[in-house]
Amino acid sequence: MHWSLAFIAAGSAGLGATAGRRRLLLSQAKHRSLAGHSKWSRRIAGLIPSVDYDARHFFRCDGAPDEVVARREQGFERLAAVFAERFPKGHALTAEARDGLSDLQFTGSYRVPFQFAQHVRAHLGVSAFVERSAGVIVTDVDGNDFYDLTGSYGVNLLGYDAYKEMIREAVAEAGDLGPVLGALHPLVVDNVARLRALTGLDEVSFHMSGTEAVMQAVRLARYHTRRSHVVRFCGAYHGWWGDVQPGIGNPVPADRTYTLAEMSEKALQTLATRNDIACVLINPLQALHPNSAAPSDNALVDGGRNAGVDRAAYAEWLQRLTEVCHERGIVLILDDVFTGFRIARGGAAEYFGIRPDMVTYGKTLGGGLPVGVLVGKAALMKRFRPDRPVDICFARGTFNAHPYVMAAMNAFLRKLDEPRTAALYDGLDERWNTRAERMNLNLAAAGVPVRVANLSSIWTVLYDVPSRFNWMLQYYLREEGLMLSWVGTGRLIFSLNYGDADFDVVVERFTRACERMAANGWWWHAPDATNKSVRRGILRELITKRLGR
Ligand SMILES: Cc1ncc(COP(=O)(O)O)c(C=O)c1O
Repeated sequence: MHWSLAFIAAGSAGLGATAGRRRLLLSQAKHRSLAGHSKWSRRIAGLIPSVDYDARHFFRCDGAPDEVVARREQGFERLAAVFAERFPKGHALTAEARDGLSDLQFTGSYRVPFQFAQHVRAHLGVSAFVERSAGVIVTDVDGNDFYDLTGSYGVNLLGYDAYKEMIREAVAEAGDLGPVLGALHPLVVDNVARLRALTGLDEVSFHMSGTEAVMQAVRLARYHTRRSHVVRFCGAYHGWWGDVQPGIGNPVPADRTYTLAEMSEKALQTLATRNDIACVLINPLQALHPNSAAPSDNALVDGGRNAGVDRAAYAEWLQRLTEVCHERGIVLILDDVFTGFRIARGGAAEYFGIRPDMVTYGKTLGGGLPVGVLVGKAALMKRFRPDRPVDICFARGTFNAHPYVMAAMNAFLRKLDEPRTAALYDGLDERWNTRAERMNLNLAAAGVPVRVANLSSIWTVLYDVPSRFNWMLQYYLREEGLMLSWVGTGRLIFSLNYGDADFDVVVERFTRACERMAANGWWWHAPDATNKSVRRGILRELITKRLGR
């Protein structure tokens, strides 16, 4: 349907529902969890007091018997000694940088649930400094090799060596021009052509980060529909811009954002009956954990992390969402910043079989350099109206289409066409599902309460026991030379250059880390403990602290 016709049709359809009914529907379309209620989650976050367990309470906070406490203490001391011996230079540099580097203070403080953070930081500090990468290995400043499971937040799709090569190529290609901005390097033409061919969409704009690409998509959707609100789904991350991060983390309320439950009839009805919705943002990674935020070990207070992909069900949901958006003239924005090129060559649109109005990219598309890209239908990408010359939608950035970034992107896009890269996409899903199954068989055979769930090469670790210490696994993995990002076992990201031999070593080390952790008693729990009872206990403790008792 033509854009303006869709808008008129939407307006008249919306007349059928009364304002009261629409309000009621909106509240029913929210997810029942706290994450589904942004205002409440921000309010409650402001009430939670700080609790620091001292060295004694740390090991027995769940009422473990003395014998278990002793094993935990020994295990912790051993790990602390190993870390002190292996990472002296990294620890010294991290300590030196910490005071002046806000980001390091933040990530350093939020690796584990806050009650445990101080004691862990004092004894199991993580070195933030690395020096080299080769194959699937990253080497830290103390010369320790780690299998990289961070995937550099998803940027590392093809292996670090491939990006080093792309950056070298980019410097060679754009080096004569240097950082000339505003005017364009000729490679931009090829990038635009390739992105149009890849997406089947009409126009492209270049930005500096995924966050900015999302900002631009939403701004354009508001401009063209003349509607105010953006819909994002509960738990979905779309960067750190305020309008797409309405809950905890944003100091001001995002008043023009609706956070709706995903895979929900009521959400579809809301979209079908409101007239103020400009666009809907989809983060396809949510297929792994619909309605839950990205899993991070700092929120792993029990064993309640859930994940698992039902590809057919999620595809059907996206299909229905697309239909409603199309009927109602709502712009459907596929945020493929993370999943683009990773779950399929054509990203989530190909993987789930949908046709969005706009797609945002970032991460790997920069060929190893920072980038955000928006691709969309011509009618939505225009930043001016020929009949109203002063009514524009402004979006420009100093570094947009930087020559070096454009050249690295070009190297990446050309690489996609190489037979070796194309082969990586052959049977991609099956390969990573089979690997996840192998990992799970190994873990089950070892008798440890740990499993993994995955969306292709994006994995998360699940725990089968209501332990308060599941987050400790990240330190045992580190001891085994497996490197995780600051969200710990919440997110493992494999690069596609992981061969079977490397993967076998990861499985072996991962399993050994779990066995060590089990032997050290961290998975002990009271026979009648459940995730719910653990959470209740924590809540009681926080209330007591808050009331100053
Ligand atoms: C789906 C999605 N959208 C947007 C962003 C923001 O991208 P950036 O960190 O480049 O600003 C991310 C980052 O992780 C993301 O995963």
